[in-house]
Amino acid sequence: MQMLIATVAAYLIGSISFAVIVSAAMGLADPRSYGSKNPGATNVLRSGNKIAAILTLLGDAFKGWLAVWLVARFGARYGLDDTAVALAAIAVFLGHLYPIFFKFKGGKGVATAAGVLLAIHPVLGLATALTWLIIAFFFRYSSFAAIVAAVFAPLFDVFLFGANRIAWAVFAMSALLVWRHRGNITKLIAGTESRIGEKKAAAQ
Ligand code: G3P
Repeated sequence: MQMLIATVAAYLIGSISFAVIVSAAMGLADPRSYGSKNPGATNVLRSGNKIAAILTLLGDAFKGWLAVWLVARFGARYGLDDTAVALAAIAVFLGHLYPIFFKFKGGKGVATAAGVLLAIHPVLGLATALTWLIIAFFFRYSSFAAIVAAVFAPLFDVFLFGANRIAWAVFAMSALLVWRHRGNITKLIAGTESRIGEKKAAAQ
């Protein structure tokens, strides 16, 4: 029962879309109406408002971190083990992708996954974030950086901690994240993907 409660709570936390909330609070257009139409930090950046994009990134990462950290930190008191941590990781991520509060139309999960990985272990989160930064720096595509980081995350996890009970969640999260970027992959191949910093019109 405790595991079910923790998993549902994680899903509900993940369902809070900071892209939509931050944009509305700052009087900006709904990110689901422009650019890639994705409610995520990259698309909010296309509004031209960097503060809104940073707040979206931090909010979406924080919710991923919080859901996993709460279960990892306090779960043992309620008889919860690593399986519950893995379920919370997947649930908060799925909440972001398919939010109950936003008609199940959510984002692609990059910031939330980063928060989840940081909560699993800071080294795992930082290694994956660094991978994203390096690829983004050289190629200027947020989506490509996310896909490469997603491929590396399970490898980092298994390298650092072995094939433990959380590794499957990291792998599943990465697989889902790449799948959510299938439209971006098509655009990358076609050469029509917008680069980081390009505004709304370029991403239409
Ligand atoms: O965070 C999502 C990013 O990887 C791609 O976003 O808006 O370019 O589809 P977007």
